[in-house]
Amino acid sequence: MSIDTATGKEAPADLSSERVKGIFSTIAKKYERFNAVSSFGAYRAWLAGMMRQAPIGEDANVLDIAGGTGDVTFATARAKRPRHIQCTDLVPEMLDVARAHYADGAAGEVPVDFEVVDAQDIPYPDASYDVVTMAYGIRNMPDRPRALAEMRRVLKPGGALVCLEFSTPPNYAWRALYHFYLKHLIPFWGGLITGDREGFVYLARSIKAFPDQQGLANLMEEAGFTNVTWKNYTGGIAAVHVARKPEER
Ligand SMILES: C[S@@+](CC[C@H](N)C(=O)[O-])C[C@H]1O[C@@H](n2cnc3c(N)ncnc32)[C@H](O)[C@@H]1O
Repeated sequence: MSIDTATGKEAPADLSSERVKGIFSTIAKKYERFNAVSSFGAYRAWLAGMMRQAPIGEDANVLDIAGGTGDVTFATARAKRPRHIQCTDLVPEMLDVARAHYADGAAGEVPVDFEVVDAQDIPYPDASYDVVTMAYGIRNMPDRPRALAEMRRVLKPGGALVCLEFSTPPNYAWRALYHFYLKHLIPFWGGLITGDREGFVYLARSIKAFPDQQGLANLMEEAGFTNVTWKNYTGGIAAVHVARKPEER
């Protein structure tokens, strides 16, 4: 079943896919500046937390899903020096920015290839990656069970999915303050920095409509992952989930 990612209600997949393509192709060049300003720099700490939790060795082949302008790919390259990273995204304009960073040396010695890929239909063979990384991706996908099943399929047995996503602060007062910020200030900042206020109204709505930490863990388990754990950041505004594809018996 596909949903409208702004509301969580059942809807044709094209509605969300076309909207997300429109948003990210428009804001691609300003996306990084918006991230830095709107999170008060916290997204750097969340990315560092993701790297600390990611079980990536130097011999790993890594698939970055919804890689965007390459933040996770380049952080992985610097922190883990894996064998290879495949940086993928639905929107070519986002990958163009990532390619420019790569040309400037953002990955150091680590080889990176870039490809336009819809996570709900991954064009790679079964069991071909040691680790799948994904930051702020799954929330934008209208068929999340299918996307997670695809990620599981391309992982080797025992491989890990490492997912950074906005989540739900467990504390009521912190959650209320955060939801006020999301509803009223995020569209303001986003509009000011990128000129696309509507894109940031969508961002706020999609975060509120997204499952909480346990809900996302359930989706991962339903897609066949095991040993799902998560760690909250900034009081649960963001969370990093780590899930395993079961070993073959
Ligand atoms: C908020 S950005 C995150 C980019 C990057 N991971 C980061 O941490 O900065 C979300 C990205 O998800 C991508 N995306 C949305 N739906 C997707 C899908 N179905 N398959 C692959 N990428 C998708 C968008 O194009 C966008 O680049």
